[in-house]
Amino acid sequence: MQILIPADQIAHRVRELADQIAREQQGRPIFIIGVLTGCLIFLADLVRQLDLPLQIHLVQASSYRGAVTVPGQLQLRLDTLPDLTGREVLLVDDILDTGQTLSKVVDELRRRGAASVRVAVLLRKEGRQQVVFEPDYIGFCIPDAFVVGYGLDYNDEYRHLPYIAVLSHPSGRG
Ligand code: XMP
Repeated sequence: MQILIPADQIAHRVRELADQIAREQQGRPIFIIGVLTGCLIFLADLVRQLDLPLQIHLVQASSYRGAVTVPGQLQLRLDTLPDLTGREVLLVDDILDTGQTLSKVVDELRRRGAASVRVAVLLRKEGRQQVVFEPDYIGFCIPDAFVVGYGLDYNDEYRHLPYIAVLSHPSGRG
């Protein structure tokens, strides 16, 4: 496994993102919605740097199934969310790959009455996007490789690694 982004670089960038978000939010409460499971560590680090009144909720989205690294059918579970009417939402996810997941979640949050929906992703994979979608906050742009660590998994392993690493030979990617 090859380390792509070391832990200290992630910590530094997460602090920068939190500062930018807080500056733009200007003290107004923010309603953070994390996309499970990959968001967990990014979200935990980000919110602890955010000097704002905030609430945290979690939704579930999964498009990768079992031990493969190619997207399958998207499954969304948003039934745990309270009423979003008038809320300023920040949607937090680990990685923007094809863009299918986040664009669908954003549409659904808007449909549920959120006043605004901004999106923060730790990683954006280059050359993979299939839908027009622009996140508001991006930690790092990375090449098209399957990555694990800092919340990202392969077959539910490696999420706990403090860095982002490239998985050498994941099944489903040659
Ligand atoms: P889309 O294609 O909808 O996918 O933007 C977003 C979700 O796909 C997962 N994903 C990955 N997970 N390493 C992972 O561990 C990767 O390189 C990777 N690429 C996509 C992830 O769950 C993300 O939320």
